[in-house]
Amino acid sequence: MKVLVLGATGMLGSDLVAVLRNSGHEVTGFSSRDLDLTNHKAIRDCAALTRKKNDWVVNCAAFTAVDRAEQEPELPWDLNVEAVLNLTEKLQNGPRLLHISTDFVFDGTKGSPYVEDDEVNPLGVYGQTKLVGERYVEAMLDDGVIFRTSWLYGPNGKSFPRTMIEAYDAGKQLRVVADQTGCPTYTLELAMAIEQALAMNIGTGIYHAVGSTAMTWHGFAEQVLSTWRDETVKLEAISTAEYPTPAVRPPYSVLSTAKLSQAGISPWRTTQECLTDFCNRLRKIKSPGN
Ligand SMILES: NC(=O)c1ccc[n+]([C@@H]2O[C@H](COP(=O)([O-])OP(=O)(O)OC[C@H]3O[C@@H](n4cnc5c(N)ncnc54)[C@H](OP(=O)(O)O)[C@@H]3O)[C@@H](O)[C@H]2O)c1
Repeated sequence: MKVLVLGATGMLGSDLVAVLRNSGHEVTGFSSRDLDLTNHKAIRDCAALTRKKNDWVVNCAAFTAVDRAEQEPELPWDLNVEAVLNLTEKLQNGPRLLHISTDFVFDGTKGSPYVEDDEVNPLGVYGQTKLVGERYVEAMLDDGVIFRTSWLYGPNGKSFPRTMIEAYDAGKQLRVVADQTGCPTYTLELAMAIEQALAMNIGTGIYHAVGSTAMTWHGFAEQVLSTWRDETVKLEAISTAEYPTPAVRPPYSVLSTAKLSQAGISPWRTTQECLTDFCNRLRKIKSPGN
């Protein structure tokens, strides 16, 4: 397959490019320098977005700073909405699009795992813009695919596990929110699921694609640090009210992956296996000589 990855320098995009290349596909990876998705003319003129050049386009580019989105809503609007509209216009009769979205389209009040057609109700600007982006993919393309993921972490970017590790190693006292539950998702694992989806020419529609285990941020932080240090680490648990942020987060955003499994995408590794791999890769990045 010939695949164009947008957002190839990001946390997910960088692992996706590597996975696709290792699987033998011909991959082009674009950052904002190669194609500024907020520039309508640049999208219109981009030859890589035509069917002759690629079979698939995977859009991993997004404005992902959830709290900043509340203060500067025009930034997520440009990239998560306008750019997606322009992209889907260009992709009519072009390569198929697999677009990445988020658990933040839900308000987190359901109390059991969300399925793809559950009612959406984003709580903040980031989730609202991602939802409108989803709607454009559905409305503009006959064969678009949307993967909603959550709590992403990978070695090539800023993520919760990395923040925890760096703060802990710096001797900081960590207090972590214990009343928000979700599914941590390792970028390498998600990249492998995306590769399978492209290779099998997965059917049109929305799929939930998240890690195998639901947990709280507090539980996740303890597991991250215990893996990093290879010893049991216990942290202070706090409530969301004790850690206010500009953007309201869904209290429970566990996504059911039953539809993805039914489509034939094989089961995910455990959180522990993913964290062991993540920590090994992060160690190499932090001390390249070892
Ligand atoms: N992070 C999470 O916890 C999380 C959770 C759920 C869903 N998601 C979704 O998963 C996807 C991947 O997220 P991520 O965390 O891997 O993203 P990320 O690390 O923040 O990477 C964002 C990517 O977008 C590119 N980009 C930014 N502005 C651009 C522009 N104007 N034109 C073209 N490209 C531009 C960046 O390129 P440059 O390097 O050139 O700036 C970068 O490659 C997104 O759709 C996000 O909404 C993320």
